[in-house]
Parts: sequence; structure tokens; C-alpha cells
Amino acid sequence: MRRTFGVLFLVLLLVFLAPQLTVAQIFFQAFNWESWRKEGGWYNFLGGRVQTISNSLVTHVWLPPPSHSVSEQGYMPGRLYDLNASRYGDQGDLKALISDFHAKGIKCIADIVINHRTAERQDVRGIYNVFEGGTSDTRLDWDSSMICSSDTIFGGTGNTDTGSDFGAAPDVDHLNPRVQHEISDWLNWLKNEIGFDGWRLDFARGYSANIAKIYLQNSKPDIAVAEIWSPLVGDSTGQHAHREELVTWVDTVGDSATAFDFTTKGILQSAVQGQLGMLRDPRGNAAGMIGLRAEKAITFVDNHDTGSTQNLWPFPADKVMQGYAYILTHPGIPCIFYDHYFDWNLRDEIRNLATIRKRFGIHPSSVLRIIAAEADVYIGSIDEKIIVKIGPRYNVGSLVPPNCNLVAFGRDYAVWEVKK
Ligand SMILES: *[C@@H]1O[C@H](CO)[C@@H](O)[C@H](O)[C@H]1NC(C)=O
Repeated sequence: MRRTFGVLFLVLLLVFLAPQLTVAQIFFQAFNWESWRKEGGWYNFLGGRVQTISNSLVTHVWLPPPSHSVSEQGYMPGRLYDLNASRYGDQGDLKALISDFHAKGIKCIADIVINHRTAERQDVRGIYNVFEGGTSDTRLDWDSSMICSSDTIFGGTGNTDTGSDFGAAPDVDHLNPRVQHEISDWLNWLKNEIGFDGWRLDFARGYSANIAKIYLQNSKPDIAVAEIWSPLVGDSTGQHAHREELVTWVDTVGDSATAFDFTTKGILQSAVQGQLGMLRDPRGNAAGMIGLRAEKAITFVDNHDTGSTQNLWPFPADKVMQGYAYILTHPGIPCIFYDHYFDWNLRDEIRNLATIRKRFGIHPSSVLRIIAAEADVYIGSIDEKIIVKIGPRYNVGSLVPPNCNLVAFGRDYAVWEVKK
């Protein structure tokens, strides 16, 4: 009898744990820098593409900043509760879109821009520092005392900024208890009233990790991912410091905090230009954040800043699929970019790689063994289940064992299944 219970318990434990252990989380950034221009509204347009996005086994979509904003894209927000003045559509359109994604089992990530905030009006001195929340009450109706004192041009009289300054708008004083309270309430409103599941923290270097920790504790998102984008210098010491900054941030914030793996993005896009040896760090691990804290790293090839029409730090266009072959087979949480999927028509190739990720149960903390990392070829084994090659070298000789089946290939990349 005791043994039966023991076995039953074990079976139940496995049933509950198995899906969590093998979940192949895949992010999808569902907009670009021009999405606000879409006739009829981006939210409505995207609603027609939910099925196509869902076909690639996407688990989370990242949507643009939802609030009223001085800039069309949403990154200069003012009346945070006003989702009707967004260029992407109104509050009703957004709720309908989120509910369509939820119906497919896909979670929705809001782009949270809280480092800075644009004011509604000028004060008596003619300085733009009178804020309105977009509600009929006084929530988020702030003044200069909620602006960091370092922001003198906006007449800030609050505490010193805990992070980097954003020049174009007042930096919010997140040490102010009323600010903390009202931002937390707003996050919970986005969750409970609008339906968002998690956060993408825009310009997270603009406030300390301890501030982010407070907001995560107060709003309990399914997942939160920080944008901490620092310049990447070429040598391996600089690369290590770059990923250490990301790791320190996620370790400090804890809970569901993750960070975009800007280190992997930068190294990968240099590596595919004849320097694939860069993908191995001095200890033999992956060189990016995934080599240290893969389960907390969101890997990506390009986003609305680095690519799209801004093109601030683009991946070499003819090598983008090598980038996807890497991130969709490796540890970390890969993020697919709208433009590549739809506008570049890479949908089928990306979908095939995503299917392989799921089929072989590759997950954020899968184990990577680097087989080769030389100028013209990179080969890695993931969980000893699949082997991926990127780079122009065609004859990989004995580097790929003979007991392998080719399951995906394209220009300068190949994925094999290791047969047992
Ligand atoms: C936005 O529109 C919705 C109805 O779709 C309404 O419930 C809400 O109060 C409006 N918000 C603002 C700030 O006007």
C-alpha cells in the first residue's frame, strides 16, 4: 500500500513537472518602428495574424507601449492610463487583441516605459512638468517633485536619479513613495483590467535594479525582460563585462526577471562575418549571457531599434538565418522579430527551427557543448540531442558524428538530430 502511494506520488510529480521542465518558451516581438502607421490600427491588423504567429509555437508576444505618448511609437508616454490616444489603436482594440492571443495560449508582454514621462502642461514658470494620469481622479497627476533633481531643465526637485538620464523627457523619481505606489497600481491595472501577463522594461538602465525589484514584487508579472543596452567593445574582457552587467541585474531583481541578451546579439553578428571562434568564451562556454545565465537570457537577432527603419545596430542582412539557427537551437529564450517573420518572408525557415526546438525539448537551460568554433565554422551540440552548424564551411568532416540525421538546413546553416 505504502509503495503504491509512493509510485502514485512520483507519477503525479512527473505529470506536474514535465511540462514545466520541457516548455520551449519562444518570444515574438510583434511590431517595428513603423507599425503605428498602419491604416485601421496595428492592433486590429495584428489580430489577423495571431494564427500565423501561433503556428511558430510562440509562447509570448511583446506588444508596443500602450499609453498616450508624445512620439508616435509610444516611447515618450504621458497619460499612462489613457490607452485610447495610442497610435496603435484604442483600449478596446488592445483588449480584443490580447484576448485573441490568450485564446491561442500565448501570453502578452507590455512595453513598460517608466524611466521618463512627458508632462501634459507647463507650470507657472513655463516648464513642462505638470503631469496628468488620464483618469478622472488624481492618480498619476504629478508635479516637479516627482522628477529627479538631476533633471534641472524640467525643474525637478525630487531625489537624485538612481540610473542613467534620458535627455528628451523628465526622468521619474522612483524613490518617491507615491510614485512607487501609483506606478505599481498602474502595472496591476494593465494586468487585471487590460489583460497583460508580463513586462518588457524599456531603458531599464535608467533606474536601479532595486527599483525594478520593487515593481516586480508589487505586480508579479509572469515574466519581465529588461532592455539594458550598453556598448559592446571587441575583446573578450569587454564582452565578459558586458554580460556580467546583465547577469548582475537579473540576479539583483530576482523573481521573474530576465534580460535581453545584447551580448549574444553583438557577438553573434560579428561572429557570422568570418569570426565564428568568438562564440566560444575562454572557458569553453557560449560567449554571451547564455554562457552564464541562459535561463534568464532572452536572445534575439534584431529589434525595433537595432533593425527596422532605425537600423541602429543591425545583424548582417544576408546572415539573419544563421542568427536564428543559433538562437532557436541554443539555451536561453529566443525572440523572433516581426520583420524577419513577415516582411522578410523567413516564416517557413523560422517555423521549422521552432518546431525542432519543441520536438527535442530544448529549453532555456539546455546544456550546450561546443564542438568547434573557428573562423568559418561553429558547431554545437545541445542536450546531446541536436547538433547545429553555422558558417560557410561545407565539409565538416568528422566534427558531426555519423549517427546524425539532417533535420533542417539553409544558407550556411544545418541542424542534425543525434540518433540514439
Ligand atoms: C478609453 O475607452 C474605453 C472604452 O473603449 C473607456 O472605458 C475608457 O474609460 C477610455 N479611457 C480614457 C482615458 O478615456
